[in-house]
Amino acid sequence: MSEKATLTIEGKSYDFDVITGSENEKCIDFQQLRDTTGHITMDPGFGNTGSCYSSITYVDGAKGILRYRGYPIEELAEKASFVETAYLVLYGELPKAAQLKTFSARLKEHAPLHTNLEHHFSGFPTSAPPMAILSAMLNLVACFHPEVLEVPTTGEEFDRTVALLLSKVRTIAAFAYRMAAGKPINHPNPNLTYCGNFLHMMFSNPYQEYEVSPIIDKALNLFLVLHADHEQNCSTSTVRVVGSSRANLFSSVAAGVCALWGPLHGGANAAVIAMLEDIKKSGRPPAYYIDRAKDKDDPFKLMGFGHRVYKNFDPRSIILKKQVHDVLEALHLDDHLLDIALQLEEAILKDDYFISRNLYPNVDFYSGILLRAIGIPLNMYTVMFAIGRMPGWIANWKELHDHKLRISRPRQIYTGHTTRSFIPMSDR
Ligand code: SDX
Repeated sequence: MSEKATLTIEGKSYDFDVITGSENEKCIDFQQLRDTTGHITMDPGFGNTGSCYSSITYVDGAKGILRYRGYPIEELAEKASFVETAYLVLYGELPKAAQLKTFSARLKEHAPLHTNLEHHFSGFPTSAPPMAILSAMLNLVACFHPEVLEVPTTGEEFDRTVALLLSKVRTIAAFAYRMAAGKPINHPNPNLTYCGNFLHMMFSNPYQEYEVSPIIDKALNLFLVLHADHEQNCSTSTVRVVGSSRANLFSSVAAGVCALWGPLHGGANAAVIAMLEDIKKSGRPPAYYIDRAKDKDDPFKLMGFGHRVYKNFDPRSIILKKQVHDVLEALHLDDHLLDIALQLEEAILKDDYFISRNLYPNVDFYSGILLRAIGIPLNMYTVMFAIGRMPGWIANWKELHDHKLRISRPRQIYTGHTTRSFIPMSDR
C-alpha cells in the first residue's frame, strides 16, 4: 500500500500518492490534481515543484552533497577526467578502457567544423558576446549535419551525435573567442586531449603552438567536471522544456545556452569577477558591499552567493577554493581578487543576514578566479560553464525522451479583465 497525502478542499478530501526516491526524497503525485479537485498548484520559480524523475544527479542542499550517477563530486573532481565524467553522466557508468578509447576517438574525429560553418564566424562583429555566438552556432551545426535533427536516444547514431556535439561545442567556443579577439583561428589538433585541444585552439599562435601545462590541463578538467550536471537547474530545465516539444537536441541545448547566460545563473561566474574588480577599484571595505547586499532598496546582490538548493556550502565551491590556491601556488601567481574574495567570504559567513538565509558561496564564487589563473578571458567564463554543462544537458534531454515524454505546458491563474465588449475608436 503506497503512502498517501490527503488534501481537504471545501470539506471534501482527496488522496494523492506519495512517491519516495532512492535517497528518500518525497513528493506528492499531483498529476490528477486539477481533474479531481479543479485546483492547480501555484509555485513561481518551481522551488517546490518536481518536473521529472531522474537518475543522473543527486543534490542534497541541506548536507552539501552532489553526486553524478552515485559518485561523489569530490572523488570525481580528484580522480576523473572531464571525458570520463561526461561518459558517466551520459551513459550512467564509468567507461571501461575500451569504451573510453572509442569515446575519445569520436571526440577527436568530430572536433573540426565544416568549412562553410567556419565562414559564419566572420559574420559576427568583434564585439559579439561569445554566448550569443555559441547559441547561434549550435543551431547552425544542424544546418550542416541535418542527420542530427532526428536523433534516436540510443545506439550508434546517438553515440555519434553526442560526440559530435560535445566536441564541436569546444571548437565553436574557441573559434568564437579567436574571432572576437581578431585573431586567426587554430584548427583542432587530434594529438591533444579534450582540454589540451581546447587550450591549443584558444591560445596557440601561428608561429608557436600553445604548450599545455599539466597543472593547467588538470585545473581545466576539474572545472569542467564540477560543471557537468546539476539536476533541474534553470538551463537544464530549459533544455527539457524545449526538448519536450520534440525539438531536436541542438535547438534544445542552444536554448540551454541562452538560459545559462543570465547573471543569476551561469553568468554569475563573470559577474563575481566584475564585482571583485569593482570592490578593488573602489577601495571600499567588503562591509560596504555586504551592507548594500542587505539593503532591500539596493538592487546590488553579492554575486556567487546563495543558491536555490544548497542551504549549506556548495561542495563545488569548496573544491574550487582549494584548487585556486593550488594552481596559483604551482604557477607562482598571485591574484589580488582572491584576497578580496577570501575577505568577503569570511565577513559574510559571520553576518546574521546571510547566516539566517543560508547564503553560502556557490560554484560561481571561486570558479572565475580559477579561470583567470588558467588564462581564460572574462568574456569566455560562462561559455566555459556551457562546455562543462553540455553532458548534463544531453543526458537530461535523453532521459526526457526515454521516459513517457509529455510536452511541458504549465497552467496559470488569470488575474486580468473579465469579459468586456469591443470599444469603437469614436468611443475610446
Ligand atoms: C548557479 O540551480 C542550480 O543548480 C544553479 C547552478 C548550477 O550548477 O546549475 O548551481 C549554478 O546558477 C549558481 C547560482 C549563481 N548565481 C548567483 O551567484 C547570483 C546571486 N545569487 C542570487 O541571485 C540567488 O541566491 C539565487 C538566484 C542563486 C537563488 O535565488 P532564490 O533561490 O530565488 O533565492 P531568493 O532570491 O528568494 O533569496 C532568498 C533571500 C532573499 O532575501 P529575503 O527576501 O528573504 O529578505 O536571500 C536573499 C534574497 O534577497 N539573497 C541574497 C542573495 N541571494 C539571495 N541577498 C544578497 N546577495 C545574494 N547573492
